[in-house]
Amino acid sequence: MKKPMRKTFLVFGKPFIGKEEIVEVVKTLKSGWWGTGPKTERFEHEFAAYTGADHALGVNSATAGLHLALKALGVGPGDEVITTPLTFVSTANVILHCGATPVFADVERDTWNIDPKEIEKKITKKTKGILPVHLHGSPCDMDAITAIAKRHKLFVVEDAAHASEAIYKGKKIGSIGDITAFSFYATKNIATGEGGMVTTNNKNLAEFMRIMSLHGLSRDAYKRYSVKYYRHYESVIPGFKYNLTDIAASIGIHQLARVEANWKVRKKHWESYVQAFTHMPQLILPAPDARDTKHARHLFAVLLRLEAMKITRDEFVDHLIKMNIGSGVHFNPVPSHSYYRKTYGYRKGMFPNAEFVGERTVSLPIGANLKNRDIEDVVRAVRWIIDSYRKR
Ligand SMILES: Cc1ncc(COP(=O)(O)O)c(C=O)c1O
Repeated sequence: MKKPMRKTFLVFGKPFIGKEEIVEVVKTLKSGWWGTGPKTERFEHEFAAYTGADHALGVNSATAGLHLALKALGVGPGDEVITTPLTFVSTANVILHCGATPVFADVERDTWNIDPKEIEKKITKKTKGILPVHLHGSPCDMDAITAIAKRHKLFVVEDAAHASEAIYKGKKIGSIGDITAFSFYATKNIATGEGGMVTTNNKNLAEFMRIMSLHGLSRDAYKRYSVKYYRHYESVIPGFKYNLTDIAASIGIHQLARVEANWKVRKKHWESYVQAFTHMPQLILPAPDARDTKHARHLFAVLLRLEAMKITRDEFVDHLIKMNIGSGVHFNPVPSHSYYRKTYGYRKGMFPNAEFVGERTVSLPIGANLKNRDIEDVVRAVRWIIDSYRKR
């Protein structure tokens, strides 16, 4: 079989941008107000309406949002927060930023999401809350997680960095847990370069996070400068600099307006991959959607059955690059990172399911700006690598 080679590099996670975003950003640039202001307020209202949450706060990343959420819920030294090992490091890092300890509960082998049975096993007197991640856009088992949280009086903060469009049993992700954090990083389904949103149905938590997101000031800059006379502000608590800019919000407003149309395209690409790879014994495909859930289709990952291949996952990824196809790894488990190994003594074998997935996972391009022929290129490349390097 001849090696299939694309002429141009297929960028993984390239943002989808329309002229609406460009016009809005230019308007904002010319308006003289670039910081947090009317565009951010509009984006927050529209995002709250989209998720069905009572409150939404624009922040400059999901990481910032998760940190604010844990602070708002009073996480501090001596506390433990249970999360998944199979996530981006920032999910666990924010627990450390609060002076608390991340405790990992292994994932389910089939859904790749945190296993509620493992959560139960990790609860101690120090446990304050649970931080599930809707990996790749697939909603976690929120009924089970919410029931555990209720039984043990724990909070639930959801990492929905991948899950803007996701729905769990009729409820949008963002309207279920105590607080949910979304990411609008450049590769996300709603992208503003850097950016994020936290949602909650609790007014007090929302107010605390708003103040904490901007130095702990009693009045934000827009309210200080846009009135007819100057108003003083006070620092009521030493807060962070986590606010979203109106430049980013100008992009976000139009990304949000297009998110469901883009989701349909991603879903179509997803289905093309599933159809193309279903009968390849060297690949494990994502689990079918759980009943009554909507997957956000943020990342399409396959697991390589390494036992059936002569190459490692990293060599597989290198082959894709050589064929001009970008891909990703989501994720190498957090306990395998050197800081976590050195600090907590994590070793191989402690999170067998997360390790199994982490060693084998490859995310293939699935952006809404991709054409059918791009997906066909990816399929051809994957088939070629597997055919060339499978064990016979
Ligand atoms: C699961 C998960 N959580 C959190 C984040 C952090 O998002 P941000 O870059 O907006 O801080 C990411 C980023 O990719 C992520 O994948």
